[in-house]
Amino acid sequence: MQEPDAASTSEFNSPNLEVLIDSQQLQKRIREMGAEITRDYAGRRPELICVLKGASIFLSDLARSIDLNITFDFIAVSTYGKGTNSTGEVKIVKDLDEPLEGRNIILVEDILDTGLTLSYLVNNFRSRGATSIRIATLLNKPERRKIKVDADYVGFDIPDKFVVGYGLDFAERYRNLPYIGVVKV
Ligand code: IMP
Ligand code: MG
Repeated sequence: MQEPDAASTSEFNSPNLEVLIDSQQLQKRIREMGAEITRDYAGRRPELICVLKGASIFLSDLARSIDLNITFDFIAVSTYGKGTNSTGEVKIVKDLDEPLEGRNIILVEDILDTGLTLSYLVNNFRSRGATSIRIATLLNKPERRKIKVDADYVGFDIPDKFVVGYGLDFAERYRNLPYIGVVKV
């Protein structure tokens, strides 16, 4: 097999990407968030609900920073389609495996943008009888909010730019970048 040309195929060092938050900053902040959650939920057994696919990498690092007897579940919703503009519609594409009755939920999301996804999920989870619901989001774009949603744990507030990496995609690409980057247009 022919070796690909590393310089032209590297996704990690793409000339079309500008680093916004590097991997050290991500790891440091996620450890702090895990410590906060460990403190706030001492003596309890919260359930982390990961919003697929974007939050999967954040969940895996955050969960390992929480020193409690936690459990996970996964939900997938569709909002954005393949482009960069929200359609405003939220639909559950893959539902949770376990009931929420009586659970203390931490919703784990990659980015809080317009707020449509998280406000829909919070209402939905409330109606299923969760005891408490908090939100942990890695990124927050306050300027873009259309519906009021307050996250309890926020990794980084970022400007109104389309970001990729560390789980976040553009047309399914870039999810495996170890940093948060901005696609140069
Ligand atoms: P919201 O419902 O508008 O708050 O959008 C949340 C979802 O939109 C996130 O879970 C992401 O999947 C997607 N999204 C919003 N902003 C970005 C971005 O800058 N890059 C990649 N995905 C984004
Ligand atoms: Mg997402």
